[in-house]
Amino acid sequence: MPMIDYRNLKIAILGGGNVGANVANLLLTHRDELEARVGAGLEVVGVAVRDPAAERTPAIPAELLTTDAHALVTGADIVVELIGGIEPARTLVLEALRAGADVITANKALLATHGEELFEEAAQVGAQLHYEAAVAAAIPIIRPLRESLAGDRIRRILGIVNGSTNFILDKMDTEGWTTEEAMRVASELGYLEADPTLDVEGYDAAQKAAILAGLAFHTRVPVDAVHREGITKVTSDDIAAAKAAGYVVKLLAIAERVRSPLGGEGIVTRVHPALVPREHPLAAVHGGHNAVFVEAEFAGSLMFYGAGAGGVQTASAVLGDIVSAARRHLAGGPGVAESTSADLPILPFDAVSTRYQIVLEVADVPGVLAQVASAFAEHGVSIEQFQQSAARGEDADPTATLVVVTHEARESALAATVEALNGSPAVRRVASVIRVEGL
Ligand code: HSE
Repeated sequence: MPMIDYRNLKIAILGGGNVGANVANLLLTHRDELEARVGAGLEVVGVAVRDPAAERTPAIPAELLTTDAHALVTGADIVVELIGGIEPARTLVLEALRAGADVITANKALLATHGEELFEEAAQVGAQLHYEAAVAAAIPIIRPLRESLAGDRIRRILGIVNGSTNFILDKMDTEGWTTEEAMRVASELGYLEADPTLDVEGYDAAQKAAILAGLAFHTRVPVDAVHREGITKVTSDDIAAAKAAGYVVKLLAIAERVRSPLGGEGIVTRVHPALVPREHPLAAVHGGHNAVFVEAEFAGSLMFYGAGAGGVQTASAVLGDIVSAARRHLAGGPGVAESTSADLPILPFDAVSTRYQIVLEVADVPGVLAQVASAFAEHGVSIEQFQQSAARGEDADPTATLVVVTHEARESALAATVEALNGSPAVRRVASVIRVEGL
């Protein structure tokens, strides 16, 4: 066979953790196939790590390991940032872009907080920043939003983008586990971030939501503009009530176009637990899986589903980005820039109208339903469904549980209703308020 004289591209990997080790291993073991696919030599010039002696699975050849990330970046054509966190990742990515390298990152925190700075630097030097692995790991969602759907108008995105919270909620729903049991197993399986608050309080999902919203609506969406609620207030009772009513509780990342009160359109991005109808495709996303449901004006509804974490799965998305970056290096010309052409206003959370399920514990005495109904009516919130369970407690002082599902209402109207319910003598407790989505 004649030797093919490929142009050689130098690849520097920053970070030798689970994903970094898998990326290095796949690049080394599938090198011939990938080189033939791209038409260029793909040489891993080094893997920057903190501790070269640490044990890694899969192992990285010792001669590739270095602790000098800055030196490794110099002279590389493609830099793969898998360190995570803000620093030194930010500085290294900027150094790499300024040196003309294309950069691949899986770093959602870095993109959500310093995306603007990095994308501007990339555009200025004509390099490209790729980040398919930053949201929903193995699932292709960045490229579909940025390229395949670039001609469409996206109306709304509903995403299950955090695998560990999906695992927890799913086990509570399907196995009847308590929150504590589900958390413990999620932790044992390594699903949770080192700081589990990032998962259970919705920070991780909010970072991913900001990235998806920016791409979908051609607008920069700062992570601080994402309304965020985690799953820590969701109880087994909420899950059981949802089940009885034909819903499942999911932590959703939602980005949508809404009418602005000032006229025109704006965007609201939010992360919170929500009731999803059991027949909705997102209800079938079990365990630690992720899915992103896109509602586009012309394409209709699309669902992207798969592994949202895992070393080798995430490495697949990184490898796809390496192939894209290598092809751009061969073709020349600037990379695909991020489009912020729409620059839509970011609206406050209250611009959203949605439906709500409210669970109330009330005194089971005459006139209670009228009092409850009038609290809703006074604030202009229309009731769609109403269910009362058999009363329990002392005969002289029975408590009934009411489950109310509303028509679409504004957040402020719902909050005022809940305040009125809390102040009503008939209401013993507003047990939960959960938004209903996906209809
Ligand atoms: N902690 C994240 C999750 C890992 O649970 O989805 C992937 O970003």
